[in-house]
Amino acid sequence: MDEKIYIITGANSGIGKAAAIQIAQQGWRVIMACRNLQRGEKARREVQEISGSDKVELMIVDMALQASIREFSAVFLAKYNRLDGLIQNAAIFDITQKQRVETGEGIERVWATNHIGPVLLTELLWEALKNSAQGRVITIASKGLLAKPFLKVDIHDPEFKSRPFSVQNAYYQSKLAQIIYTLWLAEKGKGENITANCIRVPAIPVDVEQKYAGVPEFMKKLYALKTKSAISAEQMAEIYTYLVTAKEVENMTGMYFDEKAKPVKLPRYAQQAQEIEKVMRLTMGYIK
Ligand SMILES: NC(=O)c1ccc[n+]([C@@H]2O[C@H](COP(=O)([O-])OP(=O)(O)OC[C@H]3O[C@@H](n4cnc5c(N)ncnc54)[C@H](OP(=O)(O)O)[C@@H]3O)[C@@H](O)[C@H]2O)c1
Repeated sequence: MDEKIYIITGANSGIGKAAAIQIAQQGWRVIMACRNLQRGEKARREVQEISGSDKVELMIVDMALQASIREFSAVFLAKYNRLDGLIQNAAIFDITQKQRVETGEGIERVWATNHIGPVLLTELLWEALKNSAQGRVITIASKGLLAKPFLKVDIHDPEFKSRPFSVQNAYYQSKLAQIIYTLWLAEKGKGENITANCIRVPAIPVDVEQKYAGVPEFMKKLYALKTKSAISAEQMAEIYTYLVTAKEVENMTGMYFDEKAKPVKLPRYAQQAQEIEKVMRLTMGYIK
């Protein structure tokens, strides 16, 4: 049996870490792509211990920075010439963020991390995905988009340079852009034996005390209420794992899945060819 190789970005916590455990438990090699060495190494040890696998590696990447993504890809490609699955899980959504922030490369941080970074990473690893028997890319959107049926990517100002910044608007715009990107990628992958699908993640409990220490009490209560009947990160990770490893979904591409691995309707805007073209022209303009 050929070894399969998977990369999971943001694998040091939450759903990404749970998916790393599950994929390692299946015996496959897992590259945990994390931005922080200490957090990453701590998580890698946990994943290794829980899964009982010795095929769990940490590689450092800051998905907000193109230079870091290029370095990560070079490190990965120096070691492996093949990639079976790329799970674009890392994202930021800091509900305490009030002001617009730019990365060291001068791009608004949410747009850079949640959308531009994943696009660049896939581009750099495309040949490796092609070299596997069947490469799969999984992107992550949010069920919260259901509450924003008229949202569009602001083609003229995706970075909130001349409109008021809201972290919610920046986050949902970046997730909508990821859906559009997935559909574009699915077309690109046809004939190359690479599939691309997007998962719609619902509210998953996070450790608010630890993650958002300064958040007002009422917001913590609101979040606890919102996630009361939520599924766990482990349950959500099962869908990631299923979509990248299961034989029965090997031919599925350009689809949008919910937390039960059920195909769901894509936002109408995201399916329009001329909108996909506009968003992807804008996106590629960011890739240096
Ligand atoms: N939790 C929810 O309710 C929910 C709802 C809808 C969608 N989602 C989506 O589900 C995915 C996983 O979220 P989660 O709930 O598991 O949250 P999480 O525990 O906060 O995981 C996010 C991961 O992304 C990493 N990350 C953030 N910025 C990064 C960067 N610049 N470079 C590299 N890694 C970076 C984080 O690393 P650090 O530890 O270093 O920060 C963390 O490991 C995300 O795409 C999220 O948008 C989550």
